[in-house]
Amino acid sequence: MSQRYTPAQITLHWFSALLILLIIALPYGSSLFEPLLGGGAGVFTLHKSLGILVLALTLLRLMLRARSGAPDLLAGEPPLTRFAAKAGHGLLYLLLILMPLSGILFGKRPLNLFWLVEIPPLALSDAVREAAKLFHVTAQYLLFVLILGHAGMALWHHHVRRDNVLRAMLPARD
Ligand code: HEM
Ligand code: HEM
Repeated sequence: MSQRYTPAQITLHWFSALLILLIIALPYGSSLFEPLLGGGAGVFTLHKSLGILVLALTLLRLMLRARSGAPDLLAGEPPLTRFAAKAGHGLLYLLLILMPLSGILFGKRPLNLFWLVEIPPLALSDAVREAAKLFHVTAQYLLFVLILGHAGMALWHHHVRRDNVLRAMLPARD
């Protein structure tokens, strides 16, 4: 593996990051988005549709990673640092799967996918729905901490350590 992620991995990383920020902004900035999306229902139609898109893109990313691997940017760092980076990335991937899955599980009404098709809800007990909802609204805070820590570490590597960690996730300039 070279010292850079592949162009497909880089494109998917930045596109997914953009989608996730929008997915989070939609419920929190709903009053801003409602006039554009035809009310609260439209805001959640987009939130859910983009969430399912992120789930599909994350599975694709994991398949690409299994095929092309990832650059070992922390070779030579202490084992604890290497472990922390791996655990952080692993948890990010896990939440990019569990957030959409829990969202799908707790929905009671048909799921409107991009205003194109309606998917009927799963026949689940109220207890399962409640648990999925509790997970969705609680795990968001873990996701926020991970994203902030992750972006902070990337910027620290680039501006303080001045190494190649961020460049490995940027398109090649040469
Ligand atoms: C990467 C994917 C996702 C992320 C990061 C995400 C994140 C969030 C966040 C931050 C909230 C606001 C919670 C609050 O008000 O405290 C929320 C609410 C919600 N999400 Fe998601 N979500 C994702 C995917 C989905 C999917 C796929 C669905 C459904 C198919 C969904 C359904 C909902 C619903 C219905 C709410 C409102 C919950 C309530 O009643 O308070 N989400 N989500
Ligand atoms: C919603 C926001 C984001 C999510 C969910 C996210 C997720 C991820 C994940 C899962 C990886 C591991 C890739 C792999 O090895 O297969 C990764 C790598 C990386 N991300 Fe992000 N990312 C986000 C935003 C950002 C931002 C804002 C930056 C820069 C400021 C950034 C910089 C990087 C870098 C440099 C790597 C490579 C790190 C390494 O291999 O050690 N990411 N990201």
